[in-house]
This record gives sequence, structure tokens and C-alpha cells, in this order.
Amino acid sequence: MNPTTGLFSNFVKVSDFSCLYAGHFPLSTDFDSLLTRVENHIGRERFLHSVGTYHTMLLLAQMYGKDPFAAGLIGLLHDIAHDFSSAKITRMLERYGAPLSGEDLKFPQIWHARLGAVMLEAVFGIHSPELASAIRVHSTGAPGMTPLARFLFVADYVEPTRHFDGVERFRKMVFSDPDTAFLCILEDKINHVRSKQLPLHPDSVRALKFYTKGG
Ligand SMILES: [Fe+2]
Ligand SMILES: [Fe+2]
Repeated sequence: MNPTTGLFSNFVKVSDFSCLYAGHFPLSTDFDSLLTRVENHIGRERFLHSVGTYHTMLLLAQMYGKDPFAAGLIGLLHDIAHDFSSAKITRMLERYGAPLSGEDLKFPQIWHARLGAVMLEAVFGIHSPELASAIRVHSTGAPGMTPLARFLFVADYVEPTRHFDGVERFRKMVFSDPDTAFLCILEDKINHVRSKQLPLHPDSVRALKFYTKGG
């Protein structure tokens, strides 16, 4: 467990987050139950990461004139299926009529994103193809992402509980120049996969090609 997560988990309760953030939601009374539902789906560390991503998305939306509700919502829900077993993810995707594609089958690390996109409507009742798509590609990237989807991609990488060499540089870049940050983070994630000699998801390859050609 990293030091920050350890510190948080000693004193942060769901109600604390609610007091801090509920005002950004149109129906603040729903925020408590939304947080509780998120907390019930994922472990403590992933919950803190999700709140960190929520926080980062709110800041980006406020700075760059996007809808804070939509931004915050996908920040909070993007990893809702992260801690599910592979068997549970495939079972749920089958049940929702959205089985994994042939391309996705070889990349279990991204399955949670595919299921999270489906759960947005199926479990949380939010019908928004745009937001679902942002969740769907949050770990791979993809060609033609909306600004909100690109925000989610970068916020996921630099939210406050993230700790890795170089995160500070990306964090500064995300808030000063999110478009450049998006491309740098996409390249960094791809380089990381290549350095481990692991296969790259085709969506990441397509995204890199798309954005390095000026999209
Ligand atoms: Fe994720
Ligand atoms: Fe995440």
C-alpha cells in the first residue's frame, strides 16, 4: 500500500467525500448513495483512486469549460468493474448482450473498461453513449476520442493517489496543456507495455496513429 493511501484510509469516510463534493451534482441528495454504491463494487484502494479521478475530472472540467457533472461522473464510475474477476466480467458482459470482441479476448487487463461502459446504463441508469464510450476506452485510448474521454484518459493517469516516477511532470502538463498531455501519456503507456515486451491492444496502436497524424 502506498503511503498516501494508508494515510487516507485512517480517516476518510464516504460521508467526508460527500460533504466535499456533493454540490457539484445536480441532485446532491443522490451523491451519498452513488458513493456508497461505488464503494460496494470496488476495494478501498480503487475507491480512493476513483475519488481522485473524480476530483481531477472536476478540476479539468472547471478549467476547460466542460460539464462538471458528466466529467465527475465518469471519473467516479470508470473503474466500477476493476476489481471483478475475469469470469465475472465475461459473464456479466454476456448477460448484458455485449460480449468481448475477438481483439479484446487477449487483453483481460482492459475488460473492466468494457464492462464499466455497459454498467453505466445497465446498473446506474445513465443513458449516454458519449460517457459510456469514454469509460470504454479509458485504459487503451482510441481514435477520435471526445475531449471528455481524453480528460478521463489523463485524469486516470495523474490523479492524486498515483505514484510513479515522472507523475509530477505529467500532472503539471495535464493542467497546463491537456492535449499535449494526452499524447504524451498515450505514448508513455505504450512505451511501458513495449518495455515489458507485452502485446499492445490494437485500440492503442490505432490511437497513436490517429493522434500523431494530427487526428
Ligand atoms: Fe481502469
Ligand atoms: Fe482508473
